[in-house]
Amino acid sequence: MAPEIDFRSDTVTRPTAAMRQAIASAEVGDDVYGEDPTVRRLEEMVAELLGTEAALFVPSGTMANQIALRALTRPGEEVLIGKDAHCWLHESGALAALAGAQTQVLPGDGRFDGAAVREAYKPAISYLSPTTVVAVENTHNMGGGAVWPRAAIDDVLAAARALGMAAHLDGARLWNAAVASATSERVLAAGFDTISVCLSKGLGAPAGSMVAASREVITRVHRFRKMYGGGMRQAGVLAAAGLYALTHHRERLADDHANARVLAERLAGVPGLEVDPDRVETNIVMIEVTPPRSAPALVAACGERGVRISAITPRRLRLVTHLDVDRAACERAADVLTTAARSA
Ligand SMILES: Cc1ncc(COP(=O)(O)O)c(C=O)c1O
Repeated sequence: MAPEIDFRSDTVTRPTAAMRQAIASAEVGDDVYGEDPTVRRLEEMVAELLGTEAALFVPSGTMANQIALRALTRPGEEVLIGKDAHCWLHESGALAALAGAQTQVLPGDGRFDGAAVREAYKPAISYLSPTTVVAVENTHNMGGGAVWPRAAIDDVLAAARALGMAAHLDGARLWNAAVASATSERVLAAGFDTISVCLSKGLGAPAGSMVAASREVITRVHRFRKMYGGGMRQAGVLAAAGLYALTHHRERLADDHANARVLAERLAGVPGLEVDPDRVETNIVMIEVTPPRSAPALVAACGERGVRISAITPRRLRLVTHLDVDRAACERAADVLTTAARSA
């Protein structure tokens, strides 16, 4: 049988031999004492890439979002987010539990505009939860890897600024957005108070995310990193993987995007599956499943043939391309899913 291929997420990648080499030879120190030279280099590189004064290495994207939002809010305040934003849907209620913040979800596909911000805003009146932060997710995971054009970001940031709000960017896949829109990460990040980016998604590092911000905000974020248990000791072994990933795996994201498009094109028109290749902007393919088929049943059928995919809802499948799936793997996945859908 052909080897198993895994389209559940771009987080399933394994470090390449060259990345393992970089990990093995990393110079390290105790990062809680601020003494890890490899972590310092990574933080400097990310601050430079994103155009901020400072950056901080953290274990996960969840922690990056949560400590950034914790630094921007006070308990009882409200954060505006797009539909199904990761910091709301997939972070175990941390915003409510740890920041004590309330969320208001804006309608749409995860993207929204300045008018929606103005409409949702609540001022600091005694009986309201004042809206103090807006969070943008670029690319938007549950929105199918959708990219925010810079003009749409400007519209949202202008509305937020006029209302005295801060702005957070969940850029777990900002690298994908940059490649897909041929716009630098620095341009896409401009104007946000805090930015989180992940090294462990499409870039292929085994762990690690960053928060980037002004020096003053990073000082607060650093304190929350410690409070949330994210201070790591010889973290340079992970930072080395991040440095390697940033240097060698950014440009190749274009291959993942092209592969996702091929997957969608091959699946378009298959009975029981609804997918629009024109909506595949980056490395995520969302597929609607029509009855009597169900997404979990198709996941099981594909799994039996060595192709792992996800059911996001009972009627929606998600396939994500990454470093460890090439064009041939995508073609095989499309064939296996087509057979499963036809025989369901
Ligand atoms: C958009 C987005 N933000 C944040 C995260 C959280 O990252 P982590 O899994 O490293 O906590 C994810 C994870 O998939 C994500 O898709």
